[in-house]
Amino acid sequence: MKLDTPLSRKLGLKYPFVAAPMFLISNKEMLVAGAEAGILPCMPSLNARTPEAFREDLTWVRARTDKPIGINLTLGLTPPERVQADLDTCLALDVPVVVTSYGDPTAVVRQLHARQRLVFHDVISLKHGQKAAAAGVDALIAVAAGAGGHAGRVSPFALFPWLAQALNVPIIAAGAISTGQQVVASLALGAQLCYLGTRFIASTECGAVDGYKQRVVDATPEDIVYTDQVSGIHANFLKSTVPADFSPDRSPEGAKRWKDIWSAGHGVAQIDAVKPMAELVEDLAREAHDTLARLA
Ligand SMILES: Cc1cc2nc3c(=O)[nH]c(=O)nc-3n(C[C@H](O)[C@H](O)[C@H](O)COP(=O)(O)O)c2cc1C
Repeated sequence: MKLDTPLSRKLGLKYPFVAAPMFLISNKEMLVAGAEAGILPCMPSLNARTPEAFREDLTWVRARTDKPIGINLTLGLTPPERVQADLDTCLALDVPVVVTSYGDPTAVVRQLHARQRLVFHDVISLKHGQKAAAAGVDALIAVAAGAGGHAGRVSPFALFPWLAQALNVPIIAAGAISTGQQVVASLALGAQLCYLGTRFIASTECGAVDGYKQRVVDATPEDIVYTDQVSGIHANFLKSTVPADFSPDRSPEGAKRWKDIWSAGHGVAQIDAVKPMAELVEDLAREAHDTLARLA
């Protein structure tokens, strides 16, 4: 059985997987490795310090792969002029998917649809999903409880089918997907793509320091804490990296704390090694096929 969906076929992916964008640690090496492995790799544009550095990074990527990649624009957390500069770079350098988070995607949708590009938008609830669907996004990333980064509160078992049934927009499953079994479960629950962040922290190419990767390998879900103390928005972190005496920081400075306070989700439970992305992707596909065969 071929592991694909209407959305993965539309994008020309080998597998229906996305390497989710991760602040500070997704990098251009992950974009090339993920694209060449046949999935959709994503990076926040802000991982480059300036619009010029972002354009240099994308030019470097485009010299190495012409396969689909995605760029994340964190709308509400980024000055509008930076958003526009990075959007212009995405349009100029053949980025087929922009992932929007923390804001209203309407203006981004208008510009990207005029150039036949797609917009995926992060949501944690039906209300958010309805708004983004009305804005015309091409898919909704349903970010469930247990996801790395800013995570929702609804169980993936409920969230994915809830949004898939209520909204006439493809759903992308996010939250604690680290194995092929979880891929199959997400597809069974109505998702068209699986969005994996934490699993790819423990990849050779990821920009996280070795100690961070090792903690992801060693941790269990009981080592993860869901708190708004770091950035003012609830997110999941490796508990041992969050100082006990933190007060919420809602300023842009709060974002800087992600450097020393390491985020990861409940998906750490199924991560037991750091591997090159190409190997991780093939592992996921093999496990998914084995799971399907077992169920059949
Ligand atoms: C370290 C880290 C940083 C993240 N940074 C971002 C970000 O900048 N923008 C964003 O939209 N999502 C961000 N996320 C969320 C991921 O894109 C994705 O939703 C999440 O990792 C999926 O859940 P999983 O980690 O359980 O696979 C981040 C997640 C992690 C673990």
